[in-house]
Amino acid sequence: MLSLNQTEEHPSYIALEQFGDDLYEATDGRLDVEVYPNETLGGQQEVLQLVGDGAVDMAVVPGTQMENISPDFRVLNLPTALDDIDHQLRVVSDEAIVGDLFTSVEDSNHLTVLGGLTQGSRHVYTAEGPIVEPSDLSGMKIRVQESSVHIDMINAMGAAATPMSYGEVYTALQSGVLDGAENNGISYMSQHHNGVATHMALTNHLVGLDYVVMNTDLLHSLPDEDREIFQQQWQLVSEHHAGLWTAETETAIAEAEDSGTEINDVDKAAFQEALRPVVEKYLDTPQDRELFEAIRREAQP
Ligand code: GCU
Repeated sequence: MLSLNQTEEHPSYIALEQFGDDLYEATDGRLDVEVYPNETLGGQQEVLQLVGDGAVDMAVVPGTQMENISPDFRVLNLPTALDDIDHQLRVVSDEAIVGDLFTSVEDSNHLTVLGGLTQGSRHVYTAEGPIVEPSDLSGMKIRVQESSVHIDMINAMGAAATPMSYGEVYTALQSGVLDGAENNGISYMSQHHNGVATHMALTNHLVGLDYVVMNTDLLHSLPDEDREIFQQQWQLVSEHHAGLWTAETETAIAEAEDSGTEINDVDKAAFQEALRPVVEKYLDTPQDRELFEAIRREAQP
């Protein structure tokens, strides 16, 4: 049983369903993964708890939720940490960088991080626009995930950050409780935010990351042979997902434009400058700085 907050058309659903089918075949039906989409098992914050308790086996949760159970995950949530999806994939598949991080909440929370799935580039979108520089966001209530890094990030970008769970955003945009939100093009379209926030500013302030987490006791209870097959099949998932992601992002942006969304570039330097203090604020221990530098070393020169 795997909990997902996305629709059946989303690349994460497609890649994880495929993972379940491949696993079923490779283990002669001993293992399978059933994906429950659309937050049917609960919002991400709640479901993360349920996976730790063993009531739900696995879930897709964003880095911002992991940050709430261990501050060690904050570095990967920082704007400017990751340049693009390829950089992100190199980092999350590098055992030397993320190995300890991914097992660090096993004893404390009974959660094993299997790996990462990209959320691609995130942009700001608003009901009124265009947004070109940070001052254009002044006074606007922009939804963020429940994360101190992201609250600081959006405040630094000039807006008033409003934390809220994913499933509530559409209604809040529609009723005017929010002036905008920030997300990738795929979520913008699959959550129908294009109908209620028609200006998209390509801020590209963050390459977001989701994690697939599993109850540690469940993983360890698998017979050795099955655990090995499970881990081999898992290796294929994030690349399959990234391939789907690139194609689906292009489609989403084209569909957004067709539906009337006005898309504009921004003053990148001004946003980068505004975000610098946020990065500095969260690199407050030698370990965090070390992790950040290891991530940056994986960037393309
Ligand atoms: C992305 C991400 C989700 C997250 C969402 C959000 O869509 O894939 O895991 O919930 O952003 O902004 O809350």
